[in-house]
Amino acid sequence: MLALLTLLQDGRFHSGEALGAALGVSRSAVWKQLQALQSELSLPVHKVRGRGYRLETPLQLLNADWLNSQVGAPQWAACVLQSVDSTNAEALRRMSQAQSMPFYVIAERQTNGRGRRGRSWLSPFGENLYYSLVVRVEGGMRQLEGMSLAIGLALLQVIRAFGVSEAGLKWPNDVLVADRKLAGILLEISGDPADVCHVVIGIGLNVNMLAAEQGAIGQPWTSMRAELGHLLNRNELVNELNRQLSRYLEIQLRDGFSALQDEWQASHLWQGRQVALTAGGEPIVGEVAGVDCSGAIRLRVNGAERSFSGGELSLRLRDDS
Ligand code: ATP
Ligand code: BTN
Repeated sequence: MLALLTLLQDGRFHSGEALGAALGVSRSAVWKQLQALQSELSLPVHKVRGRGYRLETPLQLLNADWLNSQVGAPQWAACVLQSVDSTNAEALRRMSQAQSMPFYVIAERQTNGRGRRGRSWLSPFGENLYYSLVVRVEGGMRQLEGMSLAIGLALLQVIRAFGVSEAGLKWPNDVLVADRKLAGILLEISGDPADVCHVVIGIGLNVNMLAAEQGAIGQPWTSMRAELGHLLNRNELVNELNRQLSRYLEIQLRDGFSALQDEWQASHLWQGRQVALTAGGEPIVGEVAGVDCSGAIRLRVNGAERSFSGGELSLRLRDDS
C-alpha cells in the first residue's frame, strides 16, 4: 500500500493501468489497494472515468532519508513509521531495547495517540505531526523543572517561523491560536528523575488537518493549514523542530528554565487573565501573574500570590470554568 501511496501522493490523476505497471500488479490488485487506502487509512480517493485515480488532498509522506541527510540539523536518528499505537509508547519500547540516543520516532498515524491525563490524541494518517524525541538527562530535577515549558517555546518558534504568527502558549505547554488548540506536548520519564533518566518528549502538532469526526476532539482546535490556507511540508517542519528543540534543550539543560522564564511569559496568551486552576477537586480562581523560575504557574488569589505545579493541573479561562 505504501508504494501505491508514494505514486499517488502528488494528488494528480494516475490511470489504473499506469499504477499497475509501476507496481507490477494487475489493475484489480490496484483497485483492491485503493479500497484499502480508503477503508484502513481513511484517505479519500477520487475516480474519474478516462483519467484514473487521485488523492483528494496531495500528501508529502514522511521521509527518513531526507531527514537524516539534512546538514546543520542535530544528528538525531529518525525512525519513521507508517502506523503505530503511540510514538511515545514506541519510543519507550525502543529505549528499553537500548537504541542509541538521542533518536526520535515519527509516524504517519497513531492508533492510540495519548494526551495528558489519560486523554486520547486524534492522529489521522498523513495529516499532522506525531513526534517523540528521547533524550538522556543526567542533572536531576533542576534540568527537568520547566522542561515541558521549554519544549513549548521551541515548538512555538517552529510554528511562527512557518507563518502562524498569532500562535501563543497556554500553561503548561499547549500551543493555541485564539483559544483553539494547535499543538500539545506530553513528556514521559523513565528512570530516576532525581538522578539519571530518559525523557520522551511527545509532540502532536496539527499541520494539514481540516476536519475531524464530530466529537473526536473535545475542545476547539485548529491546524496550521486552517490558519494559513495552504498545505505544509511535514518533513520541513520536523527538520526545523529538531533544530529548535536542540537549541532550547541546550539552554534548559545547561541553565535551567530560569533562563527562559521571561521569553516564556512574553508568549503566554493568558498572562493577566482570570483563570480557574483544577486538579480534579475544587478550582482555584485567580489572575495569571506569570510563571516562576521552575515553570510553576503564579496566580494572584485573594490578593496574595501563589505558585502551583504538577502534571495533573489544568488551567481554564474563568468564563469557561
Ligand atoms: P489541560 O491539560 O490544560 O486541561 P487540554 O484541555 O488540552 O489542556 P489535555 O488534558 O491536555 O486537555 O487533553 C488533551 C485534549 O486534547 C483533549 O481535550 C482532546 O480532546 C484534545 N485533542 C485530541 N486530539 C487533538 C488534536 N489532534 N488537536 C487538538 N486537540 C486534540
Ligand atoms: C496534550 O495536549 O494532551 C498532549 C498531546 C500529545 C500528543 C503527542 S502526539 C506524539 C506523541 N505520542 C503520543 O501518544 N502523544 C504525543
